Amino acid sequence: MIAEIELVQRFVERFQVQPKVFARAPGRVNILGEHVDYNDGVVLPMAIDREIGIVARKIEAEEAHLVALDLNEEVVFHYQSLQEKKDKFGRPLPRWALYPAGVAWVLLQKQLNISGIEAIFSSSIPIGAGLSSSAALEVAFATLWSALGGWQLDPLTLAQECQKAENAYVGVACGLLDQFSSVCGVEGHLLFFDTRSLEWKPLPFFDDCVIVIADSKVERSLTTSEYNRRRETCEEAVRYLQRYLPNLKSLRDISPVEFAAYREFLPAEVQRRAEHVVREIARVYSAMNALRNNDRRAFGALMYASHYSLRDDYEVSHPHLDILVEIAKQTPGCYGARLTGAGFGGCTVNMVAKAEVQSFVEQLDRRYTERTSVKGAVFKVEASRGASWKLI
Ligand code: GLA
Repeated sequence: MIAEIELVQRFVERFQVQPKVFARAPGRVNILGEHVDYNDGVVLPMAIDREIGIVARKIEAEEAHLVALDLNEEVVFHYQSLQEKKDKFGRPLPRWALYPAGVAWVLLQKQLNISGIEAIFSSSIPIGAGLSSSAALEVAFATLWSALGGWQLDPLTLAQECQKAENAYVGVACGLLDQFSSVCGVEGHLLFFDTRSLEWKPLPFFDDCVIVIADSKVERSLTTSEYNRRRETCEEAVRYLQRYLPNLKSLRDISPVEFAAYREFLPAEVQRRAEHVVREIARVYSAMNALRNNDRRAFGALMYASHYSLRDDYEVSHPHLDILVEIAKQTPGCYGARLTGAGFGGCTVNMVAKAEVQSFVEQLDRRYTERTSVKGAVFKVEASRGASWKLI
């Protein structure tokens, strides 16, 4: 991300006036609990030190004038015509602008004061790589409008409004994992989040381990359609199981042992998808035990198991992600590795011994390029605090 001071400079160059507010929202990496947040499951993410930063000021007109510095693109949209998803000149909004427009749309429906804005933003989160650049964009704009409008929502409600924007406006049937992490992140901590009860708590990670992200740089394709299909298949699994277990509300309600008794009544594909979800939720609880027992190996093994399940049963991996996990597993210092986020490309997350992190990063980076001829990006991340704003 371009530093705040430079954002201010660019704002002044562009709008010939000083901005008033700086708002930021982090991306996230999910350590464990993948594709379970829309099944009432439990997840273990953390907000990361990669974020979206916006500088902005209020204007009288009921419109947003946005500059996406990294893309070198500008858009103006009116608040009265948000429903049409068109800019001020009647052209379809570019994809990135659907996120702030969607947030304005949901917040206006809530009768909140959404002021007109001029804003410039930039991101240090790789775009579309599974690190929640979209959620961070939503949360950063929601935070900005809250600061300018002088109103406040409790953090989980703010996250839910951003999720609504993505579900109903952008058209991705995502769960609450990403928006929650971006809003509620705690410096130096993992987050345990129960997407059913909405209870959550920060947890310290193993003090001698760090989190390393490996970006495969593989473009994700069909992510939205395949993602939405996975969600539908989970709902289908619930309907099949309800024939035998009428009180079942979601895949959260069935344990792996119980599922084993009913799995044969499900069509093959539905069976595999549900198997992943049911076991992944159990893995998160096992990982909590491993954390309590200070058992790094057990925690790491659960990460590998999660990856294989996402690859074989949920079928959301990509050969390049499998290669990253395979190399990581053979590299000294690595306890666990898996794809993170929706999948189909994007990044893996690695749990690595602090003492070996430098050589791990170098080796993974080099060997990935040797195997695939693709230049990835391997970097360490720190757990960061959630979204915030300040006057400038
Ligand atoms: C995307 C979605 C999340 C979650 C993950 C998979 O990041 O936005 O809600 O479903 O995929 O765990």
